[in-house]
Amino acid sequence: MQKTILILGACGQIGTELTYALRGKHGNDVIIASDIREGNDDLMNSGPFELLDATDYNALEEIIAYYEISEVYLMAAMLSATAEKFPMRAWNLNMSSLFNVLNLAKEKQIDKVFWPSSIAVFGPNTPNVNTPQSTIMEPTTVYGISKQSGERWCSYYHSKFGVDVRSVRYPGLISWKTMPGGGTTDYAVEIYHKALSDKSYTCFLKEETKLPMMFMDDAIRATMSLMEHDGDAIEIRSSYNLAAMSFTPKEIAISIQKTIPDFKIDYLPDSRQDIADSWPSSIDDSKAQHDWNWQPEFDLEKTTQVMLKNIKL
Ligand code: SER
Repeated sequence: MQKTILILGACGQIGTELTYALRGKHGNDVIIASDIREGNDDLMNSGPFELLDATDYNALEEIIAYYEISEVYLMAAMLSATAEKFPMRAWNLNMSSLFNVLNLAKEKQIDKVFWPSSIAVFGPNTPNVNTPQSTIMEPTTVYGISKQSGERWCSYYHSKFGVDVRSVRYPGLISWKTMPGGGTTDYAVEIYHKALSDKSYTCFLKEETKLPMMFMDDAIRATMSLMEHDGDAIEIRSSYNLAAMSFTPKEIAISIQKTIPDFKIDYLPDSRQDIADSWPSSIDDSKAQHDWNWQPEFDLEKTTQVMLKNIKL
């Protein structure tokens, strides 16, 4: 049977590229993009688009019935920096959208769910280097608390109700098609835009703050391959550690200077520094490599080349 996929949060940084990738693979008509707001014309005109609030159970149920949706990718969320400003709104959005989708899967209205977790599930007491799949978590941010709780609920719905839910803990994601919004790792996208427009960038993190990062093509490939893989091999139903590279603001600046030699960076850390300091610097993703053959393709140099080449000012 032809599967029909609904993407919630399709106009965001990940949702946009996931929509294009899934439309490229399965055909435009069977990939239903939705968001609470309109996105770019290209995305909205390349296939079906619905204005939809993922926290509205009835509206969601109606769309799922109308299009006979079999899979949902829940990409709507409030990210780490914004969530610190609006804790209750973040908790409500991040959790009620997840419960809506998990409950629709429990009721067998959909067959499969993708829900992203994040490196934000970890905290200051987590081993910082090569953070293992299973370890101390204790997140200190609103966003991290919502993601860690979400992971426990995914695992619970899988074991109690047989819900086929799959997840990865995305590192900071770097992309040129759509800007990120409200995250702590956003600097790693902004820096490329500023390098091209101003040849200078003031970074809101300190120069030695090392965080796990990934180019968007890898993130999309990971997401699609996890969803396509034989379910019996998917042993982790909370969320898989996922890694590609780790670098500091200083290292990304040096990589940009190979193409733009007079690029300058300075540092003015703000409240996002505390968030970054609570997260790991590198991630052990051997379980994802073992269970569903995960391998990244983009390192920092390759990412920098693609970013500087494709950003349109
Ligand atoms: N990139 C996200 C953020 O910075 C982490 O998942 O909030």
